Amino acid sequence: MSFFEVEQATTRLNRSELAVPGSSPEFFEKAAKSEADVIFLDLEDAVAPDDKEKARENIIQALNDVDFGNKVISVRINGLDTHYMYRDVIDVIEKGGERLDLIMIPKVGTAQDVYSVDMLVTQAENSMKRKKKIGFEMIIETALGMQNVYEIATASKRNESLHFGIADYAASTKAKTTGIGTQNPKYSVLTDPDKSGKRDVVWSDMWHYPLSRMVIAARAAGLRPVDGPFGEIKDPDAYESSANRAAVLGCEGKWAIHPSQIGLANKIFTPPEEEVTKAKRILEAMEEAQKQGKGAASLDGRLIDLASVRQATVMVQKAELINKK
Ligand code: GLV
Ligand code: MG
Repeated sequence: MSFFEVEQATTRLNRSELAVPGSSPEFFEKAAKSEADVIFLDLEDAVAPDDKEKARENIIQALNDVDFGNKVISVRINGLDTHYMYRDVIDVIEKGGERLDLIMIPKVGTAQDVYSVDMLVTQAENSMKRKKKIGFEMIIETALGMQNVYEIATASKRNESLHFGIADYAASTKAKTTGIGTQNPKYSVLTDPDKSGKRDVVWSDMWHYPLSRMVIAARAAGLRPVDGPFGEIKDPDAYESSANRAAVLGCEGKWAIHPSQIGLANKIFTPPEEEVTKAKRILEAMEEAQKQGKGAASLDGRLIDLASVRQATVMVQKAELINKK
């Protein structure tokens, strides 16, 4: 290990993160009763400019009145380049009581963006003598944000997670797509011809690089990487495939922009029972080996060492968190 210690952010379940527009209070109760791990009440892109003030009021009322149970509650504020943002922060903290857990900052471009919001949140928290410190989730969804992703990830002690905002990221990089999180068949390669001259088109994942880059920065900073939205709400198979590749890369969860996506995300980001059992067996086998003064052991014909222990520990801790819920 490096001598540099990566401090881990507050541990929370973040398998599914449900987006709920602040301008649609009729959805709040249903969201509160859903199986989502995290709910973010949106003041940004799902809310039309004329509805911003009312959406803010709706959210403040919900923070005071709706029983969200043990869910993690976040509010997505408007961007730092808008005139709504300072009041989003101040009103939500001054009038929303203690229920709010996180603030989601969209379109973060630089570490200074995070620093500025931290300054505002700190002042508002202190003036309200708030007991619970608000954490930050940041959406990486611009070329600038991706370029500065590690500095952003390490810009504040409040930081908890990075989210891949695929729709705005596509717009910012001028990627050739109009879908949200879908693929473009042109991002593909042709295989060499086989004996009969036949060639196959092999699709690649056009989001692999930015998503990986964000996952690395998040993990290097001790934060949760979370995959963003998938727009085809009538295509659960494609959602699963998109969520699976994010899970394989190390993401902790994915957004649900429709309630039907919550269960899919929870399923995909919950480690399967057999993997948890295997992880527990790895820990037992290594404990036994260490008692005998050995640094490695074998389990089911495979070598296991301290790296296997670290992987197994992560898996078992996640399973415990899920069981507690
Ligand atoms: C989310 O905000 C996105 O732009 O994908
Ligand atoms: Mg966005």
